[in-house]
Amino acid sequence: MKIAMVGSGYVGLVSGACLAGFGHEVVCIDKDSAKIEKLENGIMPIYEPGLADLVAENVAAGRLSFSRDLPSAIQGASAIFIAVGTPSRRGDGHADLSFVYAVAEEVGRNLKEPAVIVDKSTVPVGTGDEVARILSLSGAPEGTSVVSNPEFLREGAAIGDFKQPDRIVIGAEDDFGREVMAEVYRPLTRNQTAILFTSRRSAEVIKYAGNAFLATKITFINEMADLCEKVGGNVQDVARGIGLDNRIGPKFLHAGPGYGGSCFPKDTLALLKTAEDYESPLRIVEAVVKVNETRKRAMGRKIIEALGGQARGKRVAMLGLTFKPNTDDMRDSPAIAIAQTLADAGAEIVAYDPEGMEEARALLPEVTMAGGAYEAIEGADAIALVTEWDAFRALDLDRVKQLATAPIFVDMRNVYNPDQMKAAGFTYISVGRDSVCQDAASPRPEPAIA
Ligand code: UDX
Repeated sequence: MKIAMVGSGYVGLVSGACLAGFGHEVVCIDKDSAKIEKLENGIMPIYEPGLADLVAENVAAGRLSFSRDLPSAIQGASAIFIAVGTPSRRGDGHADLSFVYAVAEEVGRNLKEPAVIVDKSTVPVGTGDEVARILSLSGAPEGTSVVSNPEFLREGAAIGDFKQPDRIVIGAEDDFGREVMAEVYRPLTRNQTAILFTSRRSAEVIKYAGNAFLATKITFINEMADLCEKVGGNVQDVARGIGLDNRIGPKFLHAGPGYGGSCFPKDTLALLKTAEDYESPLRIVEAVVKVNETRKRAMGRKIIEALGGQARGKRVAMLGLTFKPNTDDMRDSPAIAIAQTLADAGAEIVAYDPEGMEEARALLPEVTMAGGAYEAIEGADAIALVTEWDAFRALDLDRVKQLATAPIFVDMRNVYNPDQMKAAGFTYISVGRDSVCQDAASPRPEPAIA
């Protein structure tokens, strides 16, 4: 089957390469000439494990190509995916759909044979209807179908997520749409992947509801972590204890500095806007957004407390800046608010991230970037592990102690074992677990007896 992927950003490129890997003939289109030129030369515009190899393999096999010429590249395609950005609109938090609508219009003007137009971008409910309207107004052939097929790709694990998804959601209003989409994903039905056919609007809601639910789960366990710190519980035991209940499940219960990234913050805000427009308040999601925002700065204050309440003139080493490991993405990373809180309090910040420093330089001009973890740690009054990159999971603790000015370690991802850190001579503060302090027997106040 011939497939056109309009938009060669993160979602478009991963989806296009994976669909080519299924055996389809895919052309990835983008109006950014520099990006297409890079791709034609085998240079990936984003960092995603396995992507460069997958692209090279499929280009060599003649199944994957790149183009900046939408009008000709879409001809003959049975499915034309729209995978362009839907950023938060400045000022009001609504998803900005101008790129989606511009593609719909250009496709409508140029398409010669009926095809299935697939909304892959994350778009608010009702966008599919509007895309159908624009296509028809701009002259798309009779019988052209519009379906919604949301993506559930995690950065850093996107290729695995695409090839072994928990489910595929297809929101279609006609048989043509359903049949073409069943063909697109047929290779996956061999390994029994569930394909859920719904109405177009339901599919659009599923995407936002799924992300809002996951953001809620993370925020819930983060607040439980705060409670554990006060009452003397261990949030990892609590997460395991509740996660073993099948109805809850063990995933997305890792307490940390709050969620970030390109999806959860943007999608929860867009969902709230939709709720407002339809006068159907989503109070839980509202609370989640607020709690998560506050948490990021609170994590900066946690480091200041570890420094004894005074950060002026102190040097803090931040290990990890991206919103999670295995990505170079800094969008809405908790590290930004943490660094700003530290800088506002007068701290000097030295950071290292395996992939994110280029993006971080522009966002965090007050932060000095180091060439490696140990270089960042040298002379630090406190070390904060912010993103759980593998490279930070097995630090040479003796070397860390020697290099740092003070052995204070704030572990925002609970990577290390408190007993091990105590034995290694660190004052160790993590999330939702007892702190270990070298100076006092226990820095935690005794739980109040209710
Ligand atoms: C997410 C969704 O998982 C994916 O389905 C959707 O398509 C896009 O948004 P992504 O943003 O790449 O993917 O990252 P994810 O792995 O979901 O993590 C999001 C954020 O939540 C990160 O900041 C991560 O550190 C945080 N997180 C995740 C936690 O703090 N605790 C957890 O238990 C899980």
